[in-house]
Amino acid sequence: MRQPVVIGNWKLNGSPASTEAWVSAVLSGMGALDAVEIGLCPPFVLIPTAVRQAAGSALQIGGQDCAEYLSGAYTGEVSADLLRAVGCHYVILGHSERRALFGETDAVIARKMVRALAAGLVPVLCVGETLAEREAGQMEAVVRQQLRAVVDVVGIQAFERSIIAYEPVWAIGTGVTATPDQAQAMHAFIRGLLAEYNPHVARMVRLQYGGSVKPDNAAQLFSQPDIDGGLIGGASLKAEEFLSICRAAADAR
Ligand code: PGA
Repeated sequence: MRQPVVIGNWKLNGSPASTEAWVSAVLSGMGALDAVEIGLCPPFVLIPTAVRQAAGSALQIGGQDCAEYLSGAYTGEVSADLLRAVGCHYVILGHSERRALFGETDAVIARKMVRALAAGLVPVLCVGETLAEREAGQMEAVVRQQLRAVVDVVGIQAFERSIIAYEPVWAIGTGVTATPDQAQAMHAFIRGLLAEYNPHVARMVRLQYGGSVKPDNAAQLFSQPDIDGGLIGGASLKAEEFLSICRAAADAR
C-alpha cells in the first residue's frame, strides 16, 4: 500500500529559533507515527538548521523550489544539486504561488523537475485549478494540461519516485477546503490520467491534498481512497497542529 506523506510548507515564515523548536517538538511527537512519512520544507536559509536538528530521525527536509539551471549567472537562484548537497530529500515544484506570483509556466516547471530528479530529490509537483476555472467547469482540463506538460518531458517512470500535490488554488490559505468528495474526485481523476500512461505507476504514486488542511478536517480528507496525505501550509507552522494532522494520516490507514 502507499505510505501516506504529510509535508509542511512554511512558505516565507519561520526563523532559526522557531525551526529548532519546531523540529524538536515534532521529533518528540513523531515516535508513534511511523506509518506516515513526515517532512518539512522551510525557507532555503533555514534548511541547514532543520537538517542538523533532524539528523538521524525519519523527518525529511526539503526546499520549496529550485532553479531550472545547474549553476551560473542566476542571481538569487538555488539549484537542485545544492539542495541535495545540504541534505534535502524533497523539493516542492510548481506551487500555485510560484505559478501566479513568479510567472512559472508548465515548461519551466518541467525543466525544474528534470533537475530535481537528476539531483536525486523527490519532487512534490503541485497542480490545481483556480476558482474561475472550477466555476467554468475546466478543472480537469487545467490539471490534465499541468500534468501532461511535465509527464511528457520527464516520462511517466519519474513518478514512481515523485509526489503529486493537488492544491485547488481557491482553497490555499483561504480557510475554504475542498470537500472530501471534491478532493477525492480530482485525485481519482489524476490517478486515472496517469494510468493512461502506466497503470502500475498510477497505483503507486502518492497524491497529496493541499489547501486549508487543519486538524479538524484532515481525517475526512485523508480517509478518501486516493488521498495519500497532505501538503500543509498555515497549519504546519505550529508543531502541535501539524502533528495532529500527521496523526490523522496515520489513523486513516
Ligand atoms: P494552506 O497552504 O494549508 O495554508 O492552505 C497549502 C499550500 O499552499 O501548500
